[in-house]
Amino acid sequence: MPQQVSLTYHWLPAMEIGKTSFCVTLCLLLALCLATKIFYKWLRLKKRRTPPLPPGHMGYPIVGCLPEMMKNKPTFRWVHQLMQEMNTEIACIRLGTTHVIPVTSPELAREFLRKQDVIFASRADVLSAKLVSNGYLTAIFSPNCDQWKKMRRVIVSEVLSPTMHRWLHEKRCEEVDHLVKFVFKRSQSPLTNGLVNVRVAAQHYCGNMTRKLIFGKRFFGTGMEDGGPGMEEKEHLQGVFTILKYVYGFGIADYLPWLEVLDLDGHKRILKDALKRVKKYQDPEIDKRVEMWRQGMKNNRRGYP
Ligand SMILES: *[C@@H]1O[C@H](CO)[C@@H](O)[C@H](O)[C@H]1NC(C)=O
Repeated sequence: MPQQVSLTYHWLPAMEIGKTSFCVTLCLLLALCLATKIFYKWLRLKKRRTPPLPPGHMGYPIVGCLPEMMKNKPTFRWVHQLMQEMNTEIACIRLGTTHVIPVTSPELAREFLRKQDVIFASRADVLSAKLVSNGYLTAIFSPNCDQWKKMRRVIVSEVLSPTMHRWLHEKRCEEVDHLVKFVFKRSQSPLTNGLVNVRVAAQHYCGNMTRKLIFGKRFFGTGMEDGGPGMEEKEHLQGVFTILKYVYGFGIADYLPWLEVLDLDGHKRILKDALKRVKKYQDPEIDKRVEMWRQGMKNNRRGYP
């Protein structure tokens, strides 16, 4: 085409040259439009071969539905509501670069967890899980990898073994007795009008049981004079439940990793604070146990007092 333009240059007046080059550009543009259209049609045809995504929201470019996620807390309620409005049991919500596929029907859930479990067995790499498991050193938060397999072996053979279960039976009974006593005392108390806060009872029972089974003790400190949980237990428990609330929570940094430094939703700071509070009480106990093993008490492998 440019050749043609330069040929005509010698005998056409300036106005004519302008017209011709304009025509050429127009033709080129039209051809380009046509080519793009054909390309898109081909692409759409090609795409159709992969099954479509479930119904849902794609949101804005780059961020997806993250603004809605931030506006509507707790996020899981918002997701449920969205699915109810759409009248669907499987949806697709784009958060950042991730397509989140929530499922509410048991049949579909079974398909994910049983039939396709090879694909979905691994856990996602998220900031909260990484922080809590100290860089994926534990079993329950690690993605499906060698470390996870190793930890699972230890847990199955050592922690969840029938021998261990029987061995800890008495300790469990002891804590259940405490729970019954706790509920009974509260139900008789005129201070609370005989009402029992089930949440408090359940949380303290979990804390008491875990402390007993893992550390072999009821108190980190000295406890209260009346035998109730001390400041240490309360702080530890508060930390544990904060962690539970935020781990695998909808954190922005999990969907747009480059926002991690800004910590827009504060998840990182909250989790780090809670971990610090929990570790303050746990770590000395663990260090003590390690020291005991070092000093020749290795025969007593479990090292419980
Ligand atoms: C938990 O342990 C504390 C301290 O021994 C006790 O006072 C409390 O009643 C226990 N709570 C429950 C719910 O078992």
